[in-house]
Amino acid sequence: MSENSIQPRRMRKLPPVFLALLLQLAAFVLLTFGVRLLGHALSPIVFALACGVLAAIFSHLAQQARWWLPIQLLFVPALVITLSAGIPSYVFLLAFLLMLVSYWSTFRTQVPLYLSSDKVWQALGTQLPADQPFSFIDLGSGIGGVLTHLSRTHPQGTFHGVETAPLPFAWSWLRIKLGGYHNCRVYWRSLWDCDLSRYDVAFAYLSPVPMAALWEKVQKEMRPDSLFISNTFAVAEHPPQRILKTDDLHHSELHVWRK
Ligand SMILES: C[S@@+](CC[C@H](N)C(=O)[O-])C[C@H]1O[C@@H](n2cnc3c(N)ncnc32)[C@H](O)[C@@H]1O
Repeated sequence: MSENSIQPRRMRKLPPVFLALLLQLAAFVLLTFGVRLLGHALSPIVFALACGVLAAIFSHLAQQARWWLPIQLLFVPALVITLSAGIPSYVFLLAFLLMLVSYWSTFRTQVPLYLSSDKVWQALGTQLPADQPFSFIDLGSGIGGVLTHLSRTHPQGTFHGVETAPLPFAWSWLRIKLGGYHNCRVYWRSLWDCDLSRYDVAFAYLSPVPMAALWEKVQKEMRPDSLFISNTFAVAEHPPQRILKTDDLHHSELHVWRK
């Protein structure tokens, strides 16, 4: 299945990070002209702060999520402070490369890497068949914690994961190889390219953004009596049949649907 055919319409719009950058640029241009017009000279840090305030106002007017406002406010001031700290330029390149291989297309998918707790792994385990073979997929498997835990506790299952970010994928691949998890495999692949009809249980811990499209995919592909389980993120207008509460740090809830 092609990635574009199933992704939600919202994801094909301008990703918020690009909108945020455009608004920063607009603030910078407007302020530069304004300062020239008034004939005032501003120190770099004052200029940066003014830029931040303007960009935050633009983000508010553009109805970006509220958590973008502090980012917009502090982005240029942080740039000015960091550049004046005399940090060698290769540090920025290394930091950028590390972020790139860890987060990959998060700017587009809006699904970053964060990990399910061990309490979630245990709650997930209670939903799996205890004594018969089954197949399980983690859609966006991160560094493979869910897969390796369940493959240990449920040796009769077959566990697959798909992950697009290179570093988490490589990490989980090595973890599985070196740990000798014979019933477990990860693929460097987008979840939108997976055929869910092969699985008895599909698990996802993503973000609110792809849930509507994922629900559509689950409805289209998963077999009757299979399970779809989402950590934390609900599907609008489709309440789960069961919610499992955990007492981890975030009080994560598993939303469980049986087809
Ligand atoms: C929140 S993490 C969850 C990791 C793991 N499933 C867990 O519960 O600990 C989401 C993961 O999905 C990955 N991801 C995002 N979009 C994806 C896609 N289209 N296909 C495969 N993986 C994706 C991200 O790179 C990230 O590692």
